[in-house]
Amino acid sequence: MIGLLASRGSLERLQIEQLGIGQLHWSTANYAPPQELALWDGLVAMYEQGLVRAVGVSNYGPKQLVKVHDYLKTRGVPLCSAQVQFSLLSMGEEQMEIKEVCDSLGVRLIAYSPLGLGMLTGKYTSSQLPVGPRGLLFGQILPGLQPLLKVLSKIATKRRKTIPQVAINWCICKGAIPIPGVKTVRQAEENLGALGWRLSLEEQIELEYAASSSPRKMIQNVFQTRYVCNALSSAQNSLPLIYFLIKTLCHAR
Ligand SMILES: NC(=O)c1ccc[n+]([C@@H]2O[C@H](COP(=O)([O-])OP(=O)(O)OC[C@H]3O[C@@H](n4cnc5c(N)ncnc54)[C@H](OP(=O)(O)O)[C@@H]3O)[C@@H](O)[C@H]2O)c1
Repeated sequence: MIGLLASRGSLERLQIEQLGIGQLHWSTANYAPPQELALWDGLVAMYEQGLVRAVGVSNYGPKQLVKVHDYLKTRGVPLCSAQVQFSLLSMGEEQMEIKEVCDSLGVRLIAYSPLGLGMLTGKYTSSQLPVGPRGLLFGQILPGLQPLLKVLSKIATKRRKTIPQVAINWCICKGAIPIPGVKTVRQAEENLGALGWRLSLEEQIELEYAASSSPRKMIQNVFQTRYVCNALSSAQNSLPLIYFLIKTLCHAR
């Protein structure tokens, strides 16, 4: 069973006896539905054999989330987490609906890419883009982000925090558990400064208002259930493919 093999491999590489959470990276519902049940059974087996303390899913839309939750429940396994792209750049109706479903089911929402892959750090501009495929994506989105970056900077200065700390704190205020990616120890230390305080409601609203004025929205993972059809059918819009390329290259490194 693939889940068992994968989790045993992870345990061996990490040299630990149990993983905190074992998560499915995405649902196969949109392209290989018969596989889905086998993957869910893999989660059950990992949990029952004690290889993981809890199980979760990632890139599941609201409908699939309820389905996997209900299935696991019949097998006596609680669904602990749902990991989706969630940030000031990714806070549309879909994300909010997923959050509501999570709350109603008692599932914790894990926010991946809480810094918009780096666009919410304030260090990139249209004339200062990262090298590699991220540059292609940032070049299309960053020009419209000035109102949001201005508000982030204003709040950061007022609170004596940094822009990434404010952006991560917004995710916490929304009840999500952000998992910012880092490239250096300094970034990790800085991001820890997002803990132990909360933006006021007024600040959150100001940030959300500025974010909603951005003309180009953050692209979603092509494997996110419910987004997948739109993303794949709009092949003339290269953003989803750019995203896939970015993630593939980042994971291959
Ligand atoms: N489940 C999924 O499908 C999925 C998909 C994507 C990501 N994830 C997970 O989500 C986590 C984070 O997401 P992500 O890395 O894609 O995006 P992110 O957290 O939005 O952005 C992280 C990037 O921002 C920059 N950064 C971070 N902290 C900074 C700071 N304090 N100051 C300046 N720059 C800073 C770094 O890149 P530079 O320094 O190069 O700019 C870093 O790699 C990872 O654990 C990843 O595995 C999961």
